[in-house]
Amino acid sequence: MMEETAAIKNKKEKYRSLLTQISSLIEDEADLIANLSNIAAALKYGMGYSWVGFYFVKESGLVLGPFQGPVACTRIPFDKGVCGACYSQKETIIVPDVNKFPGHIACSSETRSEIVVPVFKNGEVTLILDIDSDKLDNFDEVDKNYLVQLRVIIENNINFV
Ligand code: SME
Repeated sequence: MMEETAAIKNKKEKYRSLLTQISSLIEDEADLIANLSNIAAALKYGMGYSWVGFYFVKESGLVLGPFQGPVACTRIPFDKGVCGACYSQKETIIVPDVNKFPGHIACSSETRSEIVVPVFKNGEVTLILDIDSDKLDNFDEVDKNYLVQLRVIIENNINFV
């Protein structure tokens, strides 16, 4: 088995501690906006990402929710961008280089890579977690694994309206 690098171990430790922190932050609080706001802040500052936020699935398309980072696109059509692809495919999408993703929506010129995770209610995508990095190729299966665990925490602990 290949030995884990110090960087991977460090990333896993950060995610583990963040997931514990997030679980305790939201376990006694039922307010969706408050919880998503704290999750975005914990992830952005805990992992050093450039932008972390949520898009709500509404009838008209995806609409910006709680986030941390620079001003972002308020609305994204269902068939546009990485978030639209995540909504349609119902799957986590890792974009190692945003300039090579056809239709990527650039909210910030500093974004180089991105990971987008769908959150479900009754089998339907109801929320999208979008994370941007100013580093190229900054997301991998380790991020996906822990962010899917976060998704389950959100699905189990937060009452969607
Ligand atoms: N890049 C996203 C748009 C949202 S911002 O990154 C915050 C996309 O292509 O869907």
